[in-house]
Amino acid sequence: MVDTRSRNKMLKKQIEPHIFIILGATGNLARRKLFPAIYRLSTKGALQGKSVILAVSRSKEYDDNTFRDQIKNILGTTGLSINDKAFSEWCEKCLHYHSIGNGNLEDYRKLSDRILELETQKELPSNRVFYMALPPDAFPPTIKGLGESELNKESGWTRIVIEKPFGRDLESARQLNNLVHRYFQESQIYRIDHFLGKETVQNLLVFRFANAFFEHLWNREHIESIDIVVAENQGIEGRANYYEQSGALRDMVENHLTQLLTLVAMEPPITFESDAIRNEKIKILRQIVPIRSEDVVFGQYAEGMIDGKKVRGYRGESGVYPESKTETFVGLRLEIANWRWAGVPFFLFTGKRMPQRITQIKVRFQCAPVSIFAPFGPACSVQPNVLIITIQPDEGFDLKIQVKSLGQPMNLTTQSLNFKYSDTFGLPPDAYEALLLDVINGDQTLFVHSDEVESAWSLYTPLLKIDKPIRLYPAGSGYPPETDRLYMR
Ligand SMILES: NC(=O)c1ccc[n+]([C@@H]2O[C@H](COP(=O)([O-])OP(=O)(O)OC[C@H]3O[C@@H](n4cnc5c(N)ncnc54)[C@H](OP(=O)(O)O)[C@@H]3O)[C@@H](O)[C@H]2O)c1
Repeated sequence: MVDTRSRNKMLKKQIEPHIFIILGATGNLARRKLFPAIYRLSTKGALQGKSVILAVSRSKEYDDNTFRDQIKNILGTTGLSINDKAFSEWCEKCLHYHSIGNGNLEDYRKLSDRILELETQKELPSNRVFYMALPPDAFPPTIKGLGESELNKESGWTRIVIEKPFGRDLESARQLNNLVHRYFQESQIYRIDHFLGKETVQNLLVFRFANAFFEHLWNREHIESIDIVVAENQGIEGRANYYEQSGALRDMVENHLTQLLTLVAMEPPITFESDAIRNEKIKILRQIVPIRSEDVVFGQYAEGMIDGKKVRGYRGESGVYPESKTETFVGLRLEIANWRWAGVPFFLFTGKRMPQRITQIKVRFQCAPVSIFAPFGPACSVQPNVLIITIQPDEGFDLKIQVKSLGQPMNLTTQSLNFKYSDTFGLPPDAYEALLLDVINGDQTLFVHSDEVESAWSLYTPLLKIDKPIRLYPAGSGYPPETDRLYMR
């Protein structure tokens, strides 16, 4: 039977009027992702005209009008077609700017006054989203500023969105959780991992729990191993300051790859509710066997070729320390000690300057236990079935199966049964559209719980402390060869 909360979730939501405050509104994320997503949602009618945006940054060079001009220019560069009249009307009604100055307590009180003024002027109830599109070192002072100026108080609802990375190890993640919990309830906190907003990632749940066929095979009896790959062909794109402090383990493994892992491995949740799903994900994280240093390979790209062009190595990138040991590649093997998965290796791989940009999950099934085709020779060797779930760029599913080629002699070949999202549904929307809408609707399903963050950091923090040999790989060449040993256990 479907409970009331689940039923409400299935219905198209009525948006509650609210003010959406973007802190760090002049930054890269706000420009590239948040404003385009908000504007697309507005033009589709998804916000039902009930979202007032207050863009906040320290800069004093803008007012409402100059900031609106800036956003118009930015939206123009993202390929959105802008109707001048509709844009001006939207701005007039929905887009405002406020400078937070140096961010001292007095500045937050002024922010509070501005929010109240807009709420009065636009007859809004006190429903507020605070989106921290800020560098991580600005999270603590901002949370404190909001809390001390009592902007955390709810008379309608108040939600806070925290971008990744959430901490840089277990200790710092705990400190950040403690700080945010001093001022906000967990039900008000939305820790974002934009991978979870991707249609194909959400479809993992549908694929697993709406297709009974696979559930019987989704275990140690039938699965040989699972690879989860997030590969980029880009380098660090001028973000040396950030990347030198981060590296691939913090930047990708602790969040995106681990989220994919939990969705692939978790037990069926009792409902499609955020608590039920998050509880199952947390159980998986707690069942992962501590990762041994010999089960990890760290790499760093050296000079090489991407798309036929020579590119510099990581240590030659502007702003990178010439002897940097920051990893741009991680390969690791882990196991989950529970009844479903004991003994099945999971391989996680992520790297920059890989030959192609791809995010994939490969589920390798066990081979047929005996082959009646073996007497026909090597052309009839039986291959395992492999299910490939592509998250990006060509979202879809591909099941590799064995078929007989036409004619004689007997010959087996591997063919694909596949489904490509874009062929059926067109291009999926940007992940931020789904996530912003979920925040506004108060749905935490696709956001990360404090226990999840801490469990993930508990797993990876010991790896941050080991003295790691860094394997160099030429840009564009693929995984460092040492990665092969992860499969040989
Ligand atoms: N960029 C992306 O594609 C992306 C993707 C995923 C996640 N993220 C995460 O999103 C967050 C923002 O990233 P970003 O790339 O947009 O960063 P960014 O461009 O460096 O900075 C965002 C804005 O924050 C403000 N700011 C900087 N230092 C501040 C401080 N100490 N106190 C208050 N405000 C400060 C700045 O505006 P003012 O100086 O005008 O105040 C700046 O424009 C980060 O946590 C990042 O990890 C980014």
